[in-house]
Amino acid sequence: MGVIGLDIIDKRNRVASELEAEAVRNSGILDSVQKGEECYSESLGWLGVDKWAGEEWLSLCIREAERVSRIADTFVVIGIGGSNNSVRSLLSAIGERQGMRIVYAGNTLSSDSLSSMLGQLEGHDYVIDCIAKNFATLEPGASFRLLRDDLVRKYGREGARERIICTGTYGTQFERIALKEGYAFIPFPDDIGGRYTALSPVHLLPMAAAGADIRALAAGAKAAERELRETKGLDNIAFRYALARNLLCRAGYGMELLSSFEPRFRWFFKWWEQLFAESEGKDGKGLFPKSAEFSEELHSLGQYIQDGAPIMFETFLSLSDPGADLAIPESDFLDDEFGYLDGKSFNNLNAAAFGATVEAHSGKLPCVVLTLKDSSEYSMGYLFYFFQFTCYLSGRILGINPFDQPGVEAYKREMFRILGK
Ligand code: PA5
Repeated sequence: MGVIGLDIIDKRNRVASELEAEAVRNSGILDSVQKGEECYSESLGWLGVDKWAGEEWLSLCIREAERVSRIADTFVVIGIGGSNNSVRSLLSAIGERQGMRIVYAGNTLSSDSLSSMLGQLEGHDYVIDCIAKNFATLEPGASFRLLRDDLVRKYGREGARERIICTGTYGTQFERIALKEGYAFIPFPDDIGGRYTALSPVHLLPMAAAGADIRALAAGAKAAERELRETKGLDNIAFRYALARNLLCRAGYGMELLSSFEPRFRWFFKWWEQLFAESEGKDGKGLFPKSAEFSEELHSLGQYIQDGAPIMFETFLSLSDPGADLAIPESDFLDDEFGYLDGKSFNNLNAAAFGATVEAHSGKLPCVVLTLKDSSEYSMGYLFYFFQFTCYLSGRILGINPFDQPGVEAYKREMFRILGK
């Protein structure tokens, strides 16, 4: 197994026997996606990892992270959707690093949440990085005002300058503000949409500020790029996964449930949901992407998955090496009737629950098991690229444009009317 292994468990043969023929039918799409299609050139800046996560960008982000860590202990990421999910997903997957504390803003309009975010900043020196591709989105725009105001009150307009970073598109009002006020300006790639920017300065800067090894992250993504852009046919795991998703969708499964026994993937799951929902959910098509955190949600969603309407197939994300283990203390003076736990560890228990769940759920539903080597920066870089590539490929097999999101405009028009924009 490389960094990711993939198994399709299809006990009732819903799609397994069709995979080979489907691979032949769609080999042209794989070829075009591997090269990158001309018609999507304005959205494919991520396909070659070096373009926005090459050494030039990595060192720029590391230098900027070092600069801000000298003047502050807290880094506030202001952004929503594709402009914030990747940072949080990576940091929660890799665990504590010796860097700045990261606080999130710009992803809500709730004054309760924003007040508690402000509470987290009390007594701390902080910098803000407002990430806004269009600089028209309400949530980051409103949070930017809130935090700018707080910084200016604390340090004055002059003193606040070195504490404000604008990550935006060249030629926008946002860039003009940065130039006028002397704020640091990080370019948002003009050839990548928000949800595909995990491996670009947009997220590399906050990741580096938090102490993550962004060079290892980029190396993992490059390894995925080499493998997925060169391997043909069913040996290509992204192709196998994309074909299976589409076959299952056509077989009547309307939903893909991504589950894991590792809560460290909680935020990664949000990233994944956004990537697939905004990319594939259009023209009346697409699988509804939903995630589940086991073993906790085996005690809630588990009932429906096993026994409810057969509307979904399930993809498990598991780890070959879950990391440090925790022994279970031997029975003490109490007979607690958990004697069968003696000599076992929590990794043993989690593995047993995982194996049992795959066995039980696959008796009813088709299941895919993705096994990731570990949750290091390198593996996470691989995983980000793997899903971005799969999403592009899967969307093309589905016959939609994986890079636009026309559906999110409808509520915005109404909201802006109400707000008098
Ligand atoms: O993937 C996308 O393009 C969106 O999810 C955006 O990332 C999100 O809407 C935020 O956009 P912006 O950075 O322009 O505020």
